[in-house]
Amino acid sequence: MTEPLSELCFVSAKAQVIHGSIRVPGDKSISHRSVIFSALADGVSNIEGLLEGEDVLATLAAFRAMGVQAEGPVDGKLTVYGVGMQGLEAPESPLDMGNSGTAMRLMSGLLSAQSFTSVLIGDESLSKRPMRRVMLPLKLMDANCSAEQDGTPPIEIHASEQLNGIHYDLPVASAQVKSAILLAGLYAKGTTKVVEPAATRDHTERMLNAYGYVCSAEQGVICLTGGGKLTAQDISIPADISSASFFMVLASIIPDANLLLEHVGVNATRVGVINILRLMGADIELLNQREAGGERVADIQVRYRCLTAVDVPPEQVPLAIDEFPVLCIAAACATGVTRFRGAEELRHKESDRIFAMSEGLRAIGVKIDEYPDGMDIEGGDIRGGKVDSQLDHRIAMAFAVAGAVAENPIEISRCENVATSFPNFVELANQVGMRLSINNPIIGGRN
Ligand code: S3P
Repeated sequence: MTEPLSELCFVSAKAQVIHGSIRVPGDKSISHRSVIFSALADGVSNIEGLLEGEDVLATLAAFRAMGVQAEGPVDGKLTVYGVGMQGLEAPESPLDMGNSGTAMRLMSGLLSAQSFTSVLIGDESLSKRPMRRVMLPLKLMDANCSAEQDGTPPIEIHASEQLNGIHYDLPVASAQVKSAILLAGLYAKGTTKVVEPAATRDHTERMLNAYGYVCSAEQGVICLTGGGKLTAQDISIPADISSASFFMVLASIIPDANLLLEHVGVNATRVGVINILRLMGADIELLNQREAGGERVADIQVRYRCLTAVDVPPEQVPLAIDEFPVLCIAAACATGVTRFRGAEELRHKESDRIFAMSEGLRAIGVKIDEYPDGMDIEGGDIRGGKVDSQLDHRIAMAFAVAGAVAENPIEISRCENVATSFPNFVELANQVGMRLSINNPIIGGRN
């Protein structure tokens, strides 16, 4: 994907009243997987609720480049004509995964099992992210894949004669690594077994079973046997709890706020943000809980309540790994010092999120201490000022939420990647009462 030509800034000023009812876009993790499994299935899959963000569109473009026909997405609806497990064709050029670590890591596993050569590339941020964590287990499965000397992309993958199942103890709690191994395992001889050090999101396991491929998961041991097939499904994707989390924190910190977030996925491996906010005293209710598309879904009601600092329980960290930036804003508004530890993985996301949040919070007047694996954040008044999103969508949106309570506006630079996960963030933010504008210095205007 080409780098953006202009630099997009957000300016977030003090919000008035926060209220309303919104549905945030589809879950990013589930959207990627729905495209992957639909493409590999026998038959036609109809997907609804798909996230039309750049990350998922990168995954879809990769399958189109490998001969998969698809109609859409339009209004979250996508029809995929599956080519079967052996139906992918060699792409003519490198597959561009844009900003998406999920796309690159999951596709590495899948492409390692194909009978053709492929190359995976990404944008500036993705090109710096660690890929050894997937290369290593895939090589143990006899895949012929490699990253650069320092373990970063591009990734080059050649056909290998036969992948072999492995028993792999994950050194880091990572759903992306787990999923890459499982995707390769679909084609491997024998059984592939992955053992997790801590629970991570289980959408791959759930969706495999939904598409008729038996994948067992018991007490952190995930198992499947190669050589099966996937059957097309109609699938409904819930709203992304990671996107909803910006609004959960927003409503928790603005006096008198009352927000309803509709049809949000509340899979037990994703609800760390709710658990942590509730520990801090937040008023969050899960209404109308139900099953949809093999996932637990609820409407989430959030009302303002004073937050209190906590020591974030380490077992919640992998369950809230993408919500750390906005949880830092909650911590900055809470009474006392909130401590995050055991979150070293945050240094390997779209940016080094511990560094990005530390720098940004300091710049807007929040007292913090940075540690290799976390931060201490002292709650208090937020002054406002200028911060750099480090081209990271979640850093940009977290500081936009901070602007809603700050004494002076917060100007956030380099926000273009918000479109990777939440294309209509600005629109929904203003709809519920935030005062968030876009300032494009190249065009010079504001809207
Ligand atoms: C994801 C897994 C997580 C998460 C990412 C999405 C996935 O990454 O941070 O946004 O869809 O599997 P890790 O597996 O690196 O923890």
